[in-house]
Amino acid sequence: MAYLESNITKVTTHVLQNMKQCGNKIAMLTAYDYSMARLLDSTNIDVVLVGDSAANVMAGYKTTLPITLDEMIYHGASVVRGISRALVVVDLPFGTYQGNSKMALQSAIRIMKETGADAVKLEGGAEILESVNRILSAGIPIMGHLGLTPQSINKFGTYAVRATDDEEAKRLTEDARLLQEAGCFAVTLEKIPAALAAKVTAELKIPTIGIGAGPHVDGQVLVLHDMLGITQQFSPRFLRRYHSIGEEISHAVSQYITDVKSCDFPNEKEQY
Ligand code: KIV
Repeated sequence: MAYLESNITKVTTHVLQNMKQCGNKIAMLTAYDYSMARLLDSTNIDVVLVGDSAANVMAGYKTTLPITLDEMIYHGASVVRGISRALVVVDLPFGTYQGNSKMALQSAIRIMKETGADAVKLEGGAEILESVNRILSAGIPIMGHLGLTPQSINKFGTYAVRATDDEEAKRLTEDARLLQEAGCFAVTLEKIPAALAAKVTAELKIPTIGIGAGPHVDGQVLVLHDMLGITQQFSPRFLRRYHSIGEEISHAVSQYITDVKSCDFPNEKEQY
């Protein structure tokens, strides 16, 4: 029987698990503020990710590395205030969980306590397993993130497709298994060959969420500002643009400037 997630008043990790079992795709988008979160939640989106891509689209940094835990908490709390139905996942930012599992737990606890989010997301596999285990032991749900992990951009040196060779593909498959065995509730697969994503998805019991990972995953995620056409320069092959809001904003603002300069705004009805 199909799982009717449209009847669900709150998406939980359990709901996502059922969606995978029933073959119902999971739709996930990023958000960083209250107003956008409210708009997203009114659409029955399944998962809202407060991604550390906030560093790029909200703060204008070139990489995701500079964003701080306090800044992620600010974005996370703003989003949570706008959501009642979707599952909210907040990224642990670079430098708050790698190499020190006690610090990782403290960072995850701060996210959960100070934002009210439902789960956290961490980038990496075997190398962060100790942090993953410690966070999970506190009852905090984790979404993993494998493939292109932007917090490691300085190690990769490029945003090109990951795991195109057998060795890296094997490591990624093992990492996905490790994350599942540890108890993660889902794994994001970013920018890897579609065939590899399909294989990992078939092997795992937990849902996979793809971005640039082809169609044979359990769900898809895009950065909201990219799919709406607010960010206009970023055009990777995997991105489908659903709108050109950037252009509409420019037109609206130009019209406002014209109206102000020509004394058309405000008119008689727009004053007291
Ligand atoms: O930070 C982010 O927006 C992400 C998605 C691209 C998956 O991690």
